[in-house]
Amino acid sequence: MTIVIEAVKGREILDSRGRPTIEVDVAISGGFVGTASVPSGASTSRSEACELRDGEPTRFFGRGVAQAAAHVNEIIGPTLYGQPADAQRTIDDRMRELDGTAHLGRLGANAILGVSLAACRAAALARGLPLYRHIGDLAAVSTPLLPVPMVNILSGGLHAGRGMDVQDFLAVPLSAPDYPTALHDMIRVRAAAEDLARTEGMPTLLADEGGLSPGYARAEQALDLMVRAIEAAGFEPGSDIAIALDIAATSLLGEADSYALRRSGLALDSADMIDLIASWVGRYPIVSVEDGLHDEDWQGWSELTQRLGDIQVIGDDLFATSPARLARGVGVGAANAVLIKLNQNGTLSGTLDAVALARQHGYATVISARSGETSDSFMSDLAVGTAGGQIKIGSVRNSERLEKYNQLLRIAERETIGYAGSAVLAGAQQRGRNKDDRRAAS
Ligand code: PGA
Ligand code: ZN
Repeated sequence: MTIVIEAVKGREILDSRGRPTIEVDVAISGGFVGTASVPSGASTSRSEACELRDGEPTRFFGRGVAQAAAHVNEIIGPTLYGQPADAQRTIDDRMRELDGTAHLGRLGANAILGVSLAACRAAALARGLPLYRHIGDLAAVSTPLLPVPMVNILSGGLHAGRGMDVQDFLAVPLSAPDYPTALHDMIRVRAAAEDLARTEGMPTLLADEGGLSPGYARAEQALDLMVRAIEAAGFEPGSDIAIALDIAATSLLGEADSYALRRSGLALDSADMIDLIASWVGRYPIVSVEDGLHDEDWQGWSELTQRLGDIQVIGDDLFATSPARLARGVGVGAANAVLIKLNQNGTLSGTLDAVALARQHGYATVISARSGETSDSFMSDLAVGTAGGQIKIGSVRNSERLEKYNQLLRIAERETIGYAGSAVLAGAQQRGRNKDDRRAAS
């Protein structure tokens, strides 16, 4: 039976920051309707697909997406009527052609992604499959896998009024045997961090992703708190639970490509940044560093990756979920892992291409939310269906984050689906070998 697209409806809704975003319904034959909505970043890459905003100052401070919704209803929808709903790549290619620009700036990547995801969900419903299974088929991945959650505990940067220079201090569960235990471990660390911050008279206000924003001037103070929170929760730092950083260095760019760490009073060049990050990695149980340098510092990225040796080095703004940029990074040895954000790419098929390319070159993948989110949990199914290995949703607070963690709990009820475990972090094997060597030598 062919299932075809019968109706497409786009609308403006509000995201977790109270800013407009796109939601789309795709109705297909058989009476199935898929609905999906689109996230939005604050610390963005200069190479992301283009989020179309109205720029009309009297509506939502210029952030309205009425034009993008109209593009869904008046241009994209009518073009797709009668098209097979399960031909995801054809749908996505058709929308790219219709847009005609490299960054999807004419119709808007927000309009296009909304349709892409809603069509996928409708097709999964029509096939009677869980969404992650349908995505697995599209990605040619036969074994779904529950991801390791990398959970925001402390926030700075553009998600917390620049209260700290580094954007995210995250906890990474290493010893948990399954996803529910990993999530519980993260809740314990988050609670311990909040208790410690409160006891020390630091603010416990929530940042955009639900993390705490104590506003420490120096990253070392936040790292100390992370270690103490892990211990207070009853875990061994570095063995049970480790630390990950997202420095979001593109948003630290100051004059003449220097990095302005204003809270710590530092202005650094690329080499200084690499030294600083390496000094943190040397002193704290850090297993993953994202966006240590800005999104065009390719030379610096190769050096950073070399220097950090056996930990995970993630490119987010650097790659912008673009297969072409990832291929360039592979060529110069920049990073060993890639953050995967659907709206940086603009279509589901393009995002699956980035995941496939990463896998082909041995780069780890981390499926990621944005700082502006909705209650849509598509990314959780994406992480499981592609066997993405790791997921970064934000903190374990606020419904737009929890709905995604909860969707993974629902999927985890199916006992046949395994858990990725911390061996999927880039560098994990090498770290294990280094530890064995040290043990043998002593
Ligand atoms: P963003 O932040 O959604 O504001 O870009 C998330 C991240 O940097 O990973
Ligand atoms: Zn990032």
